[in-house]
Amino acid sequence: MTAPRAFVLGHPIAHSRSPMLHGYWLERYGIAGSYEPVDVAPADLGAFFGSFRETGWTGGNVTVPHKLAVIGHLDRIDAAAAKLGAVNTIWREDGQLIGGNTDWLGFIGNLDELAPGWDREAGRAVVLGAGGAARAAAYALGERGLSVALCNRTASTAEELAAHFGGGMTGHPMDAVAGLLAEADLLVNTTSLGMLGKPPLDVDLSSLKPGATVYDVVYVPLETGLLKAARARGHRTVDGLGMLLHQAVDGFRHWFGQTPEVTRELRSLLIDDIRAKTPGA
Ligand SMILES: NC(=O)c1ccc[n+]([C@@H]2O[C@H](COP(=O)([O-])OP(=O)(O)OC[C@H]3O[C@@H](n4cnc5c(N)ncnc54)[C@H](OP(=O)(O)O)[C@@H]3O)[C@@H](O)[C@H]2O)c1
Repeated sequence: MTAPRAFVLGHPIAHSRSPMLHGYWLERYGIAGSYEPVDVAPADLGAFFGSFRETGWTGGNVTVPHKLAVIGHLDRIDAAAAKLGAVNTIWREDGQLIGGNTDWLGFIGNLDELAPGWDREAGRAVVLGAGGAARAAAYALGERGLSVALCNRTASTAEELAAHFGGGMTGHPMDAVAGLLAEADLLVNTTSLGMLGKPPLDVDLSSLKPGATVYDVVYVPLETGLLKAARARGHRTVDGLGMLLHQAVDGFRHWFGQTPEVTRELRSLLIDDIRAKTPGA
């Protein structure tokens, strides 16, 4: 049997940390397989899938700008990919090419790992943002039965997203946040604010329900201003690095037949890489 070969497909792709992540697991489990970055321009996507089987790919990850465009080249997509409108993981099943979305699993897996029991009595979440990361967060929290209030600079985007997901999800402008925090068991930032090189996220936490957990999906820096302020007020905090690690678990399982563990060592490896490549992180 030939060794399984997986890819991460993007354009550009050199910046991707996925090869480091999967390379760590391949070595840790002694699996003879590979995980390779593949740079494919949008115009060449058809040719890539045309030679998929002959090339011997087992499957792989998909990133910007192909997450939507790959759908037309697959036999089937899973329920999460259909709801999120994006595929980030491809695998083979009974001769078919299947596309899935594991970003929501990354979001919730990280939260469960770093704040065990966070949902014991959690009923309401406030999610800041309405982009790709917000979709993954809202889907995950909806799956866990929470009612979700999405707040965004462009309120109409939050309202449209809430209507798309249904289940009592609501959309709001940013100035509604203060009023919503008193009832929130979980506050999540999915905007790009607070990220290194971006403006800070300005949220007043004084009305946030005591005991609420605060989660920032931004992971450069690892402890954002939001998390620092939340920690100072005694809230449990969750950083975003583990979302990147946990979203990779399901793909590895599909391609290499082993459910990999998100270890402290792997986390340290990624932190060292971010610090080495990002001055100020
Ligand atoms: N931890 C992980 O694995 C992971 C995974 C995915 C993303 N992320 C991080 O999550 C963040 C968002 O990513 P994304 O893919 O969701 O991006 P995106 O689709 O471009 O969405 C960006 C969001 O940020 C808001 N925003 C941007 N600039 C703003 C500003 N100046 N003031 C107020 N709101 C602003 C946007 O609001 P408008 O709609 O009004 O423009 C939108 O809601 C990034 O920092 C990314 O690195 C982390």
